[in-house]
Amino acid sequence: MNDVTTEQRTNSRITAAYREHTPGSAELAREAAELFPSGITHDARNVDPYCVFIERAQGPHKWDVDGHRYIDYFGGHGALILGHRHPVVSKAIAEAMDEGTQFGASHPREVQWARAIQRLVPSAERIRFTSSGTEATLMAVRLARAFTGKQTLIRFKGHFHGWHDQMTSGYTNHFDGSPTPGVLPGVAEKSILLNPGDVAQVREAFASNPDICGVIYEPTGSSFGQVPLGADFAQELRRLCTQHGAILIFDEVVTGFRASRGGAQVAFNVRPDLSSFAKIVAGGLPGAAVAGRKDILDLLDFKAAEKLGKEKIAHPGTFNANPVSAAAGTAALTIIAETDACDRASATAASLREKLNAIIAEEKVKWAVYGTYSGFHLFVNPSRLDIGPHNFDPTRQTLEDLKGGSKALINKLRLAMLLNGVDLNPRGGGLLSCTHTAQDVTDTAAAFHQAIRMLKQEGELN
Ligand SMILES: Cc1ncc(COP(=O)(O)O)c(C=O)c1O
Repeated sequence: MNDVTTEQRTNSRITAAYREHTPGSAELAREAAELFPSGITHDARNVDPYCVFIERAQGPHKWDVDGHRYIDYFGGHGALILGHRHPVVSKAIAEAMDEGTQFGASHPREVQWARAIQRLVPSAERIRFTSSGTEATLMAVRLARAFTGKQTLIRFKGHFHGWHDQMTSGYTNHFDGSPTPGVLPGVAEKSILLNPGDVAQVREAFASNPDICGVIYEPTGSSFGQVPLGADFAQELRRLCTQHGAILIFDEVVTGFRASRGGAQVAFNVRPDLSSFAKIVAGGLPGAAVAGRKDILDLLDFKAAEKLGKEKIAHPGTFNANPVSAAAGTAALTIIAETDACDRASATAASLREKLNAIIAEEKVKWAVYGTYSGFHLFVNPSRLDIGPHNFDPTRQTLEDLKGGSKALINKLRLAMLLNGVDLNPRGGGLLSCTHTAQDVTDTAAAFHQAIRMLKQEGELN
């Protein structure tokens, strides 16, 4: 975290213990710092003083270069609802690898992959594969603009849709919609940033602006429900988009095949016009898709676009529908369709949330753990509200409180958890897979208890 200098500021015993515990990672971090900005390859992997370097993984666990095992709640940034190296997915990858990794041609696996998506997502009348979720949301917005002939996009504060130019303001900063460095003001201006869940604001935006091409959002709320949203908001957005001829885009990059087998849209029984998928869709390999109404995706179709008298939207991409990703994705989606993998991950997450809250209550810390489906979030109560873990309602809190909290404190909690064998995400929460067991939950709760004691010893929670 860029603003964290825990060690210099506090002479933290936790940080010192972490350094002592992870000499192999420290060594690699020194080398990585000479190669990568901040020594990392994804902003979310930024840990102060450095992150652990992982060598291998299996199921819910991963091992660092110093031989320590971690219970993994980062879950491949959400891609691994089946855990690491699911045997069926691994076999499918090996078979595909054996046949070739890039044909520069259509191939049977892309057809199977698309069918596997359609089986679970009824709104996916047509599908286009991309290499990342960023590309999928980029194409979804381009399609919305081209289809409607309008330009302005409604987005919500705190919602993440990747890092392309239209999505950078309003995620962690620039909530006034001003452009972040390197982004053209004209691009940023074409987004309206609203408060998540505020139907009146959406209504007002439509009423005052005839130029709205669509709405994009994370349907269960930003960061898989850290600031939760439910079915009622989705239904309202559906109604307003239909009324105003705008395109409703569900960004299901995280919720897809996780909130339910068919994603948030099936869980909420709301049919978006377009959806973006990534992470789980490609079974733990790079890959993503934009999917939705045929008449909209017709703008990518040579003949259909010509028939409509429209200019086709170009869409190349060297690794679109890569056959190895297709094999992994098809295998993963088939398991999700035919087993209770999603439900099991959600049930284990519910039990973890309960156990962590019991510890918070026992230690009399004014925090809470909450979440839906297979996720959990940690509320560290930056405004020092008088809440307890068992009477905490995240829907009554502000965006600032839910997403706030000292980064230095959360960083220290992460180090303490790593020292006790657990890898959380950068917000102090995480995502579960169907491979996390009751034992993992018990061990995580014990690690959390120990981490809270360590934080207290450093005077962090007094
Ligand atoms: C909701 C959401 N949309 C889009 C993206 C971007 O996906 P990718 O990292 O594959 O570009 C992410 C990534 O975390 C995401 O969480």
